[in-house]
Amino acid sequence: MSLFSSATGGHLKAELKDLTDEDFDLFRRLIYEQSGISLNDTKKELLRTRLRSRLIREGYRSYREYYSFIKKDQTGNAIVPLLDDISTNLTSFFREINHFSFLDTVIPKMIAEKEKKRDSTFRIWSAGCSSGEEVYSLLFTMQAHLKNKKPEWNLKMLATDISTDILQKASNGLYDVKRVDAVPPYMVKKYFVKELGPKGREMMRIKPEYRQIVTFRRFNLMTENFPFKHQFDYIFCRNVMIYFDKPTQEVLVSKYHKLLKPNGYLFIGHSESLTGLNHSFRYAQPTIYQK
Ligand SMILES: C[S@@+](CC[C@H](N)C(=O)[O-])C[C@H]1O[C@@H](n2cnc3c(N)ncnc32)[C@H](O)[C@@H]1O
Repeated sequence: MSLFSSATGGHLKAELKDLTDEDFDLFRRLIYEQSGISLNDTKKELLRTRLRSRLIREGYRSYREYYSFIKKDQTGNAIVPLLDDISTNLTSFFREINHFSFLDTVIPKMIAEKEKKRDSTFRIWSAGCSSGEEVYSLLFTMQAHLKNKKPEWNLKMLATDISTDILQKASNGLYDVKRVDAVPPYMVKKYFVKELGPKGREMMRIKPEYRQIVTFRRFNLMTENFPFKHQFDYIFCRNVMIYFDKPTQEVLVSKYHKLLKPNGYLFIGHSESLTGLNHSFRYAQPTIYQK
């Protein structure tokens, strides 16, 4: 790594050699191997701009120098900021609302089935949870169905992502007031508290007693052996597989199938589909599949 190499207008500035086609190929192979994210030829500019300011700040002279640094790393930590930079974290509360309407119709049936079997645990996974809006929307939905039930239900919610930065945001549960607009007012009242954020801006934070219901973990969906001991009632993996190629999607979908309880559901994003993949799910509704 170089130190800052030139001074312009009183500010120290590193000279960063431009990203070559060869560099881009090396990076995209590395990113694919490590995260399953497949960057096509049109993504060169995206890679260049997403990395540029950080590489300058950290004093690299070229993208290749940064690539060599990651390749030499033995700890597995050096790749994390790269994956943070290139992953797209767009999300929102109650995004793709029909998934939540569907849940409102099936959760009472799931509860009835569980009561017959004296099973009082729900296990839910938000895979690729980004900044947490998805899993908190699921939490509010589940609470609405379980709140007055006796005996008490055991709600186990897992939220995972490859990006450590975004997971930190998710577990903090602190959002701009505007982002919370999509949450019904009675839920806002119940689950959020007002708080002053950076620069005295008014923000909304999920109350700690609700945040603690969710377990946030860094987990790479490309991991060969998934370490989960228990099967899930449903899995949300929305707007994540869109970045993976078909063979990678197929492997992941078959892992989800194994990880779901019989009759459990897999929810995928609205621009995604299992069409053309070899899989064992039953089609329930567009973007909703049942084991
Ligand atoms: C566009 S967001 C989707 C957020 C949310 N599921 C939704 O639909 O609103 C995609 C998320 O997938 C995560 N991601 C991408 N590749 C991943 C991988 N290999 N393992 C785990 N998470 C990954 C990204 O970090 C990002 O937060």
